[in-house]
Amino acid sequence: MSPRLRRARTGDVDAILELERHFPGDRMSRASVQRFLRVASARVWVVEITAARTHVVGALILLTRRGSTIARIYSVVVDPIARGLGLGRRLVQVAERGARAAGCAAVSLEVREDNAAARALYASLGYAERQRLPGYYDDGGDGLRLRKVLAGRRAR
Ligand SMILES: CC(C)(COP(=O)(O)OP(=O)(O)OC[C@H]1O[C@@H](n2cnc3c(N)ncnc32)[C@H](O)[C@@H]1OP(=O)(O)O)[C@@H](O)C(=O)NCCC(=O)NCCS
Repeated sequence: MSPRLRRARTGDVDAILELERHFPGDRMSRASVQRFLRVASARVWVVEITAARTHVVGALILLTRRGSTIARIYSVVVDPIARGLGLGRRLVQVAERGARAAGCAAVSLEVREDNAAARALYASLGYAERQRLPGYYDDGGDGLRLRKVLAGRRAR
């Protein structure tokens, strides 16, 4: 029953889309998830637990860009049944290691201003507010851009 974190595969598309239902606001399309699983500029992890069968209960998408040393956490979501167990933190930490391995010096992300759980998660991992993003989301919700400089690196 112990959670297992691994890189996502093509067969995880449905599970990732299902998790996205729990995401506040803007959702990803099947085509976007399929693309993220295919392109070199995206790294996707899932966390799964095995009870009677194996369930994917969390997913994270990290994006990198050629010429930039700042990676971006595009999405992180944990199934409500598995929240509060430290899986969100593990996903973000594995993404930070992935960002480092890709030569990045910092990780940036956007979060809804009213998303207390996510903001507390990022704050606990050392993410700091870089920019306010009024009306950033499709429904007019305000956002914040956060960034964490990875230890021993300088972000450009
Ligand atoms: C944000 C989210 C990924 C957190 O996942 P999680 O697995 O429950 O988080 P963790 O158990 O790893 O918690 C890590 C830390 O985050 C903070 N945190 C998590 N949930 C919290 C909550 N409901 N209220 C306050 N703080 C919370 C705490 O600081 C916690 O550390 P602690 O347990 O040592 O106190 C999850 O709530 C989620 O999927 N939300 C919907 C999608 C979403 O908002 N994604 C982020 C968009 S930017």
